[in-house]
Amino acid sequence: MANFNLSFLALFIYPPIFLLIFLQLIVHLRPVKIPIKSRHVFITGGSRGIGLAIAHQAAAEGARVTILARNLNRLEEAKSSIRRSTGIDVGIVSADVRDFDAVKEAVEGAGPIDVLVCNQGVYASCELVNFDTKEIKDMIDVNLIGCLNLVKAVLPGMKNRSDRKPVSIAFMSSQSGQVGIHGCSAYAASKFGLRGLAEALQQEVIADDIYVSLIFPPDTDTPSLAEGVLVVDIKCRSLATEIMALGDL
Ligand SMILES: NC(=O)c1ccc[n+]([C@@H]2O[C@H](COP(=O)([O-])OP(=O)(O)OC[C@H]3O[C@@H](n4cnc5c(N)ncnc54)[C@H](OP(=O)(O)O)[C@@H]3O)[C@@H](O)[C@H]2O)c1
Repeated sequence: MANFNLSFLALFIYPPIFLLIFLQLIVHLRPVKIPIKSRHVFITGGSRGIGLAIAHQAAAEGARVTILARNLNRLEEAKSSIRRSTGIDVGIVSADVRDFDAVKEAVEGAGPIDVLVCNQGVYASCELVNFDTKEIKDMIDVNLIGCLNLVKAVLPGMKNRSDRKPVSIAFMSSQSGQVGIHGCSAYAASKFGLRGLAEALQQEVIADDIYVSLIFPPDTDTPSLAEGVLVVDIKCRSLATEIMALGDL
């Protein structure tokens, strides 16, 4: 009698467990390692700061690297510094990510892209009430619309690539893309926006074996961090915000 009860229960227990395992396998995205050796890595904002460090690393690991930014002199300096440290020549291209036509021309000129790193960004810290509207729009345009422009320009080539190896698109967000901090309302809006873009885009491109990542760096000692501080009335900060923002100033 006891044996009969157990096998009867198994009929109810095992099917849902197998169904859950099956759904986990087909629905859940697992981290995928994207090979970069001998592949084309295209890094925006690659002329200085975090983007330049990524370009150094990618070149050292054997990738074919292109860096994009606006200032041509700085791009040339970046190219020289990468050549000095790795012996490798990277491609440089000057364009403003806010200008879709310029981005499309830059992308088409660079050739098929396997890894797109949308790293360009501007940062300014100011309470919204005092923040100039043109500066707010510029920040959203560079940090968020610039990424949409880049993806729109790169995707057709990525989807039609001849080798069917996995490829990737990465967005450089920020800790301000995870939690709102006093004085960062406009910057946080631009970086939270990247999360929505990345999540929706991943669903649109997974069938093409394109993997989307979001990167959340903490404060990093780069030129923009020094330039972007600070027009915030620190006295207005709540204690909780002050704790969250420790290291932000
Ligand atoms: N540093 C930090 O503490 C920190 C923390 C979290 C997240 N981040 C994020 O990480 C990324 C890199 O930051 P970073 O500190 O390395 O910045 P950075 O040193 O100021 O470098 C910014 C890069 O973006 C380029 N750029 C700016 N506006 C552009 C535009 N309209 N079109 C094309 N390129 C443009 C700049 O070159 P040109 O000016 O010549 O165009 C430069 O190459 C940004 O997205 C930033 O928000 C930084």
